[in-house]
Amino acid sequence: MRAKLERDFDRFKRELPRDFPAHVRGSYRIDLTARYLGELVPHPIGKGSGQLSLNPGQLEDDAAAGLAFAVLKTVIAEDEAGTQTMAAWAIHETKMKVERRPAGAGRAGWTVSWKGRGWDRPFAEYLALVRAGRDLTRAGRLLVVPSVKYHLPRLAEPFREGEYRYTTAQLADAWREPPLLVEKDFSPTLAGDARADDRAQSLRWLEEVPRQIRAASPIPVRVAVKLMNARFDDRFQVEMMEACKGADALVVFNRLFDAEQGVAFGGWDLSDRNLRVLDSYRPPPPSSAPYRPLTGTGNICSGRMILDYARRGCESVQLHTFFQLPLSEYAATHGSRAQRALHALVFHPRDGLLAGMLELEARGALERQSGELRFLDLGAHAHRAG
Ligand SMILES: Cc1cc2nc3c(=O)[nH]c(=O)nc-3n(C[C@H](O)[C@H](O)[C@H](O)COP(=O)(O)O)c2cc1C
Repeated sequence: MRAKLERDFDRFKRELPRDFPAHVRGSYRIDLTARYLGELVPHPIGKGSGQLSLNPGQLEDDAAAGLAFAVLKTVIAEDEAGTQTMAAWAIHETKMKVERRPAGAGRAGWTVSWKGRGWDRPFAEYLALVRAGRDLTRAGRLLVVPSVKYHLPRLAEPFREGEYRYTTAQLADAWREPPLLVEKDFSPTLAGDARADDRAQSLRWLEEVPRQIRAASPIPVRVAVKLMNARFDDRFQVEMMEACKGADALVVFNRLFDAEQGVAFGGWDLSDRNLRVLDSYRPPPPSSAPYRPLTGTGNICSGRMILDYARRGCESVQLHTFFQLPLSEYAATHGSRAQRALHALVFHPRDGLLAGMLELEARGALERQSGELRFLDLGAHAHRAG
């Protein structure tokens, strides 16, 4: 197996097989099938919302590369008159800087420094992007999901239902066939904002927002809540997960916020925090609460890190930074960054997903079912009580 992996890693540097999950299944008897927001996808690796899903060209490249799914840049909700209560997040900023970010124990990860926030162009252009994504989804080439930042009121204020209703109805109209899949972003800049200082206020948002979106949608909708990394302790992070009772999935967790520099950041501090919180998370038993699947995000730069999230219950992962590294950082010599990233994440003979799964099998931590190792079995033992 090891020799085969080394051979595949080497020959796929020029080009990944068109249907690499089928190759993996055939050659290694490993089933990479994963799940995002209730949809089965051929493998767990998708693109997180951000600057890499702003136009149809980027989506087309991702479909060609073989990504499992892509979440569109976050749009700021508006009402019929175009009013956006969260307009402070619709600011224009183009410059991104990919840089090293040192963390504890001498580890230097990667982060993208960027002062921007949400979608800054007209909503009509976003809807055109949603339609392009819908066509790719229907063609079975790439699951595409929009992301929204809806109004978040202060404790004494009501939710602006007009913004929820108009924005969701427009997305549903663009998507056409139910269910509509939506991610709701709670961003690091929100975590750094004064309005997130009040814990009760944040918990009210998480309880109410999925309900508001559901009530606003003219067609059945599935809601993934992308949780912020609040500026409180790990215990509160778990409280936020528990508060999201109405969500169909949780994306855990958006980037950290550096208050001094006023920027969001990633790297090892982010994955350390995320994995630590997931370790302490104990979901309520299925009999007392609906099943809420997890999707991991944060500093995923290797297959081993995918396994770290998967073994803590994540059924898929969303990356941003690893799709932005200097070309010299990828072992592959040809293809788009998404392709080169997939090559490393899946086939790296030491740190790749296949190598990691085979190692777990050798250690007796993952068993074959009907002769196959299955990605979705990795989380089976996550979050057991005690
Ligand atoms: C430049 C940049 C812009 C981002 N914009 C958004 C956004 O609009 N909405 C959102 O939900 N997440 C956004 N993210 C967060 C990413 O989707 C991802 O969850 C996060 O960066 C952690 O993954 P990573 O360590 O692989 O980058 C952004 C990240 C970066 C680096």
